[in-house]
Amino acid sequence: MCGIIGFAGREQAAPILLDGLARMEYRGYDSAGIAVRSETKGLQVKKAKGRLQVLSDLTHGGADLEGTLGIGHTRWATHGEPNDINAHPHVSENGQIALVHNGIIENYLEIKEQLQRHGVKFTSDTDSEVVAQLLEFHYNECHNMLEAVGRVLRRIEGSYAFGIICSDYPNALIAARKDSPLILGYGENGNYIASDVTAVIKYTRDVVYMEDGEIAVVTPESIDVFDSEMNPLEKKHSQVDWDVSAAEKGGYAHFMFKEIMEQPEAIRKTVSPRIRDGRVVLDDVSMTVDYVKNISRIFIIACGSSYHVGMVSKYNWERLLRRPVQVDLASEFRYSDPLVDENTLVIVISQSGETLDTMAAMREAKRRGARTLAIVNVVGSSIAREADDVLYTWAGPEIAVATTKAYSTQLVLMDLIGLYLADLLGTVEKSEYDAILTEMQLLPEKMSHFLEHFEDVQYFASRYFNHNSIFFIGRNLDYAMGLEGSLKLKEISYIHSEAYASGELKHGTISLIEPGTLVVALGTYAALFDKAMSNVVEVKARGAEVLAVTTESFKEKMEKTADSTIVVPDTHPILQPSLGVVPLQLFAYYVALQRGCDIDKPRNLAKSVTVE
Ligand code: AGP
Repeated sequence: MCGIIGFAGREQAAPILLDGLARMEYRGYDSAGIAVRSETKGLQVKKAKGRLQVLSDLTHGGADLEGTLGIGHTRWATHGEPNDINAHPHVSENGQIALVHNGIIENYLEIKEQLQRHGVKFTSDTDSEVVAQLLEFHYNECHNMLEAVGRVLRRIEGSYAFGIICSDYPNALIAARKDSPLILGYGENGNYIASDVTAVIKYTRDVVYMEDGEIAVVTPESIDVFDSEMNPLEKKHSQVDWDVSAAEKGGYAHFMFKEIMEQPEAIRKTVSPRIRDGRVVLDDVSMTVDYVKNISRIFIIACGSSYHVGMVSKYNWERLLRRPVQVDLASEFRYSDPLVDENTLVIVISQSGETLDTMAAMREAKRRGARTLAIVNVVGSSIAREADDVLYTWAGPEIAVATTKAYSTQLVLMDLIGLYLADLLGTVEKSEYDAILTEMQLLPEKMSHFLEHFEDVQYFASRYFNHNSIFFIGRNLDYAMGLEGSLKLKEISYIHSEAYASGELKHGTISLIEPGTLVVALGTYAALFDKAMSNVVEVKARGAEVLAVTTESFKEKMEKTADSTIVVPDTHPILQPSLGVVPLQLFAYYVALQRGCDIDKPRNLAKSVTVE
């Protein structure tokens, strides 16, 4: 979603701002802009609808804008259509204050009307411009920018991360946050603000995560952070430990493909440190046997692909723990008056750790007394910091909008936690426990082996890429995996696609199957393979073209019925989705490639969804 960058330093700001915005392109946006202040030219603002390249061309790579202090923004439209005027930065009426904003100001209409009564003229449809104008209004009253920002923050409702510059302040930019991420970066040639570390990692690894309610004054020499009462704060610094190359394509055509290929290593990094002497060790979680025995109910809450991980985990955990596990979409959970109390364990899953729906659902669960455990990829993100316990998936930075390696690491981490809890409860046989752990450690190798033959999937994609509607069917874990395969395909290839539990087909959906319809049949779940095959036969009988995914054990049987078959290595049944999902990711990737889609930045989508 929107991305903010700001720089106060001893170098020209515009090229740094453009570079930072380029590194945040993956977040999703539809327009971009920068504002730079110089002694001679005052505030200069350039904005443009469309790709960042348009803005870069417009400013000759930033060379046209002179000055060492500036802010930049990529906008994902919420209030008002994507166009040059609604793009950020927004400038107050007298042209003295420029502001970039992520989030939503809920009471903006009321404030806008009030300002209009004072004669203020607005140019855009955005809630963000209202804040720029309100800032000018208060600045005119108090002539102190920090004080004016404080007054504005007390007046507005909603979520925000702000970057603000004012022509009266040649060296300082002001930042503030509430419910929208913002980090501070300490560099050699100046200091930074950014929505995430990828924007500044080229310049510094020394960062501070801003908390809700905090305000920062950033100059080339220093960063001062204050609480909402303007009391100075001592902030803890964090060192970003991943390399800049991790957020670069490194010779691959797309981040998505690179990240698919990185999965074996990401799984290894997530699993290895958590298995010691044949046992699951979750150092960062402190659940006692008594606490676990008193858990009456488990909720798994997430959005999108993270929710699909929850779907797989529901099947696996209920099998392992013999406890009811409910998976809820975060956006539904929070408004459903959920049956949550202090004996409820709530697991929230989020790659970004910033998804607003998931964050709000977690807060609701905490408010009702539940203990929360977050599975997060981005270190120091909001969800990670607010959860009672956090376990990180060590996938490294995931840049492609379509998640792959984060999904895979979430899956194995959930399997590990399931085993850990089952062990505490005594609901898993030792032989089963050992078998799952052994197989889990073999997953990276088996996945690498499959990935060596990625061209097989490419071949099927070139055969089926021109279908306009595709169905994914499967039972149990295969159904959960199909949900992810279907989402992957539709988000990057724009092909209409649905995932169904195979047994449900005959209750309605089978009427959509006609000669030539492509059905991706998932038959990797051994316990229900024969049942799944009956459903394959049913759709074949109605003329469907069937592309199957199965395991080595069932290859022969599947090949007798399906038109095309992709075979993944066998593993323990609980872990089979970790291998089964890989051809589905590759299939989506190659279909999108054939169709000429913008794979890493699919239309209308954002990497981290920080609005409701
Ligand atoms: C997956 O490919 C999607 N881009 C999307 O569904 C994503 O999983 C969802 O928005 C949740 O994001 P999170 O894991 O960062 O919370």
